[in-house]
Amino acid sequence: FTAAVPFPLAQYGGRFTVTMIPGDGIGPELMGYVRNIFRYAGVPVDFEEIQITKDSTEDVFEKALVCIKRNGVALKGSIESKYGDVNFSSRNATLRTQLDLYANVLHCRSHPAVPCRYPDLDLVLIRENTEGEYSMMEHESVRGVVESLKVITRRCSDRIARYAFEYAKRHGRSKVTAIHKANIMKISDGLFLETCRNVAKEYPEIEFGDMIVDNTCMQLVSRPHQFDVMVMPNLYGTVVSNVACGLAGGPGLLSGQNYGEHFAVFEPGTRNTGTSVAGLNVANPVAMLNAACDMLNHLGLTQHATLISDAINKTINEDLVHTADIGGENTSLDVVQNIIKEVQQAMKDGEW
Ligand code: NAI
Repeated sequence: FTAAVPFPLAQYGGRFTVTMIPGDGIGPELMGYVRNIFRYAGVPVDFEEIQITKDSTEDVFEKALVCIKRNGVALKGSIESKYGDVNFSSRNATLRTQLDLYANVLHCRSHPAVPCRYPDLDLVLIRENTEGEYSMMEHESVRGVVESLKVITRRCSDRIARYAFEYAKRHGRSKVTAIHKANIMKISDGLFLETCRNVAKEYPEIEFGDMIVDNTCMQLVSRPHQFDVMVMPNLYGTVVSNVACGLAGGPGLLSGQNYGEHFAVFEPGTRNTGTSVAGLNVANPVAMLNAACDMLNHLGLTQHATLISDAINKTINEDLVHTADIGGENTSLDVVQNIIKEVQQAMKDGEW
């Protein structure tokens, strides 16, 4: 289920064109790995690359937006958001709001061979992606007093709640939990919670519950199996997603999907730049490769997606080729080369 996103039309003899935004930090090297593996797997996708970094001009950013609107789909790394620079709005957040990518989906699964607290995690986090604390409306009303507007609307709460219940229904999941802080933000989070409760009434076959966000973080660490699908406003979404990624083995494994009515953007789940590990051949390429597989599924290229994701899973769980972030001693290139070897083997065996 990918919201109401229409599949973009295949172009030029059945090949798809997808926008690629490498971003800062490890983004460019990870995109190189994606291109390489796609080549070996014979994936019929051409990338239209537009690089946006923290230093790119407004013109380049606009060009990237037009490019995504034209192609309908993008694969993206993270762009540094320059903390401290009050004149610079996060490009990542602006891109999501400009394209109205209102739903962020993170499927948190653990890998049997990656050491983590729980070996059998399987939860889905659905995050409102366009409003809340990310409205980027802050001002200093008088010296020393800063106001930051958190915007919650019935419309955006309603569509994200519906997205969560539809997702649960289509994926055979039995429970949706709304995450909030309505005990303190009684009007804003109160509206979010009330809207979720109203939508839940239309899905009597799916159990509904709610939980305060701070308790949620504690419960996720101590008893994560009580959760199935979780739906939450924007800022809680990024915090809880990072907790979930941490539980499943860190920033290098899980992918994140962003959907709106018209466009879809795929990226690593934690959305960080990994600048400190850039260029060292140590970054885990798996989160970006999983994002690339999500993108292939979205395009309807399910055979190619399965070919590559099976190769990723074999590399991690059978061949045990692991980068340092998940406790191994292998390099990024070792992982990529092993995935290519598994792809070639599967193609030779005619497994796909
Ligand atoms: P970071 O980029 O420093 O990453 C956190 C840690 O994870 C670092 O130790 C990094 O080396 C490691 N890491 C990340 N990806 C990895 C990979 N693939 N393989 C191995 N190790 C990996 O995170 P930070 O400081 O939170 O963010 C840096 C930039 O990213 C900032 O500009 C921030 O605004 C932006 N960003 C971060 C988001 C987040 O959820 N953390 C969300 C959106 C943007």
